[in-house]
Amino acid sequence: MKKYLKGILATTMILSMTAALAGCGSSTDATTEEGTDATTEENTDATTDGTEADAAGDKTLIMATSADFPPYEYYEGQTVVGIDAEIAQALADKLGYTLQIEDMNFDSIIPSITSGKADIAMAGLTATEERKESIDFSDSYATGVQVVIVKEGSEIQSVDDLLADGANYTVGVQTATTGDLYATTDIEQAGKGTLERYTKGTDAVAALQTGKIDCVIIDSEPAKSFVAANEGLVILDTEYAVEDYAIGLAKDSPLTAEINTALQELIADGTVQGIVDKYIIAE
Ligand code: ARG
Repeated sequence: MKKYLKGILATTMILSMTAALAGCGSSTDATTEEGTDATTEENTDATTDGTEADAAGDKTLIMATSADFPPYEYYEGQTVVGIDAEIAQALADKLGYTLQIEDMNFDSIIPSITSGKADIAMAGLTATEERKESIDFSDSYATGVQVVIVKEGSEIQSVDDLLADGANYTVGVQTATTGDLYATTDIEQAGKGTLERYTKGTDAVAALQTGKIDCVIIDSEPAKSFVAANEGLVILDTEYAVEDYAIGLAKDSPLTAEINTALQELIADGTVQGIVDKYIIAE
């Protein structure tokens, strides 16, 4: 198991909570600013799909993410940092691209890939069979675990309690995440409780704090980060699901092969582990 460096965490959480608290404002601002820049650059430089840009030696790699997910992607000031941001930068450096990170709501990420607005999706994105129907995935570069956050002393003590016959809890998830997909099937459609979907994981955690919901299903690393930054929350010992994180790409994208080659090199030479170790320390 892994554990955060609490100091770093506390700082990053304050930053991301500040961003979250600024509300739509902050994420809209970021998107607008970046969006405007990006559009201008693209239009001036190379218009559309990077083909002309490639010829001019000015290759941009646009990464779609949802920067609300420490330690994989979150804001430090105005900059998106984290494991995904750094791995993407290392891939871009290796392959000769200029990396451009586009922050958006999580549920816009896969559409941004299918529509061609972004080249790669890195967002602690789980490679699921269902998603493979609309996008392709690179090789996996990390493992994700879905866990359950509750308030200390909650009567929910295990995933089994949550899914028991007659259970009727209100469960928070981030919209369109695998936590949402599992809970939709296992809880909402099974008539075992109510689901509340939030744009950001931090919004779900805030709702848990105020007692609006009984638990949050979310990936374990952000869960640890949120629990470290909020008094009175705990993560249940039992895991809900274990998953593989991978880079999302358009179906049959010519990028997939070069990304996989570069990714394997970065795994083999220890770069990926070095980035992970910078953000997460082993217990
Ligand atoms: N691993 C989960 C999924 O793929 C959650 C990812 C959420 N990522 C984020 N940057 N908010 O659905």
